[in-house]
Amino acid sequence: MRVFSGIRPTGELHIGNYLGAIKQWIELQEKNECIFCIVDLHAITTPYQPERLQENIMNLAIAYLAAGLNPERCILFVQSQVKEHTELAWLLGTMTPIGELQRMTQFKEKKKKHPEYVNAGLLNYPLLMASDILLYQTDLVPVGKDQKQHVELTREIARRFNKRFGKTFKEPEVLLPKIGEKIMSLQNPKKKMSKTDDPQGCIELFEKPEEIKNKIMAAVTDPGREIKYDPKKKPGISNLLTIYSLFSGKSIKELEGDFKGRGYEEFKKSLIKVLINYLEPFRQKRKRLLKRETFIKEILNQGAKKARLIAQSTLENVRKKMGLI
Ligand code: TYM
Repeated sequence: MRVFSGIRPTGELHIGNYLGAIKQWIELQEKNECIFCIVDLHAITTPYQPERLQENIMNLAIAYLAAGLNPERCILFVQSQVKEHTELAWLLGTMTPIGELQRMTQFKEKKKKHPEYVNAGLLNYPLLMASDILLYQTDLVPVGKDQKQHVELTREIARRFNKRFGKTFKEPEVLLPKIGEKIMSLQNPKKKMSKTDDPQGCIELFEKPEEIKNKIMAAVTDPGREIKYDPKKKPGISNLLTIYSLFSGKSIKELEGDFKGRGYEEFKKSLIKVLINYLEPFRQKRKRLLKRETFIKEILNQGAKKARLIAQSTLENVRKKMGLI
């Protein structure tokens, strides 16, 4: 199976990105043909600092490798280095009704959040994402729940294109993790964990142990003291149970049994240990990678070369079908 996914280089990754996306990628790379992208052209649709973009790209590449992506088992590259992405996005835009783009939840949310910066790029964001996916004839797109709607639109675009111009694209399937498709904020468990929305509610992938401890101890819990999974009545504890389960490999049922009658504080202290132990090797690997900039640039250049070959072949076919050559 061909797998494609990407993350925006907008700052530090958090455990939501890891559990929703990267953790699946690491497993998929063992048995599939995987392509993972640093989507810099998507990152510039919201306010950003140009002088920090290259640093953010490098940091994301380091995060990919530190978390376990293996450049010998997957293609890693930067979106803007493969120009076919923007060209296909334009072509797809000529056959996508504006209404479909305006209906996207992410567009509506970002419009509300940055009313001073509602640019056409933000509206066209899903076209570029569809282009990322369709250029590689992708079978599977592993993402968190917030990106599901964009993958569904991608399928719709592929179907419409194939119907009008003849079979050209594969219709990709979205792949959500069985649990952890939406990790919630530690401060407001009814909202998605997001670095920009509330940093205190968010644990970064390379967070210092001391900070992990502070943030988990300060995490919002629910009335009562029972450790029980019930997202409606106990959103705080249910979110922490999900995180605990994914980082420990124990099922939620098992954890409910282990912590029966033991209270929130004991549960949180144990979760802190689990998190620190799991994330420490990532921090160590990142430290080593920070000194290897040339090596990382080489991985990204080689990745872009391989990606370009696949992208060019699809785009050539699209241009033919659309009467452009
Ligand atoms: P981005 O950069 O916002 O997020 C990267 C990945 O992390 C997942 N995620 C979460 N999962 C669970 N819980 C959370 N709290 C949480 N927060 C984020 C996201 O679902 C995503 O999988 N548009 C995409 C990037 C993109 C892309 C693509 C993805 C561009 N082209 C092609 C797949 C295929 C985005 O902004 O993700």
